[in-house]
Amino acid sequence: MLLRFKSSWELQESAATPESVFMDRRRLVKAMSIAPFLGIGTTLPYGKANAVMADPTKRFYPANRNPRYRLDRSLNTEKDVTTHNNFYEFGSHKFIAKEAQKLRTRPWTVTLDGMVEKTIVIDIDKLILKMQLEERLYRFRCVEAWSMALPWTGFPMADLVKFASPLKGAKYVIMETFHDPDVAKGQKQFWYPWPYREGLTIEEATNELTLIGTGAYGKPMVKQMGAPLRLVVPWKYGFKSIKSIVRFTFTDQRPVSFWEKVQGQEYGFWANVNPAVPHARWPQDTERVLGGGGRRVKTLLYNGYEEQVAQLYRNLKGENLFF
Ligand code: MTE
Repeated sequence: MLLRFKSSWELQESAATPESVFMDRRRLVKAMSIAPFLGIGTTLPYGKANAVMADPTKRFYPANRNPRYRLDRSLNTEKDVTTHNNFYEFGSHKFIAKEAQKLRTRPWTVTLDGMVEKTIVIDIDKLILKMQLEERLYRFRCVEAWSMALPWTGFPMADLVKFASPLKGAKYVIMETFHDPDVAKGQKQFWYPWPYREGLTIEEATNELTLIGTGAYGKPMVKQMGAPLRLVVPWKYGFKSIKSIVRFTFTDQRPVSFWEKVQGQEYGFWANVNPAVPHARWPQDTERVLGGGGRRVKTLLYNGYEEQVAQLYRNLKGENLFF
């Protein structure tokens, strides 16, 4: 984010990661049952263990690609995507990859609470085991007008919502990043409303496109991209895709998200991509492709996902849907 308080497509197959191996879930269950030292099954908070813990989900990668989600452009290289990141917890610039390695992602506990039948507190590896991982090729468009295309691995957020069993009156889901200023020095910057929070309507969260990302490029998620799990909503500006999530809270009240609190005139709740609606300080009609030597391409309405998501917004009147 430039802040500082002024501060259905085709892909070049050559650019894609290889098809996956069969997911050996039984072996993972076995590994988990014999590995209490991994902290699995406990409700330790995220990343607080001293020991360096293994990621027992590694064997699920690469996951089978879902052929429904294809692209009209080449994928970015893994290097493009893992060396240019926004993760303010580790610095307010793009080169936080090294600093982000301080984040411990095992053990990691995820809480599902609020308007749900019963609060669930679950270890990340147990959660992943309950879900079916798949690979999808998606575009990604940052509000700062840069973009990329990459293979995510994850599971539909609709499956997480189902698992959470929200009450009938729940209308939104709020997501929250870890909060640990000792590890993430950016969280010592008191002028930001930590922890990072984002929200979606239940209809958005259960849209077919909405993924909970657990990996990219056929591997578990790297820390700078928001390990061990992040949101992926490709029709929205990138700041909606919250990283390193520890909590999903169901509510009937529309939440105010991190950037909305910081600069509500520029960053709103909906943040759907629209080339015709400029940001308060720059146009949004084109985007710079990461790794493209400055190459710009036209930005598409809903980042090219109009067919899948436009109906979510048809009956919403008087809302600022595009920032
Ligand atoms: N999540 C957290 N917790 N902290 C952040 O600073 N930045 C957001 C989003 N998720 C951010 C975050 C922004 S502004 C963008 S553009 C994307 O992450 C960047 O994702 P990437 O680094 O994988 O490209």
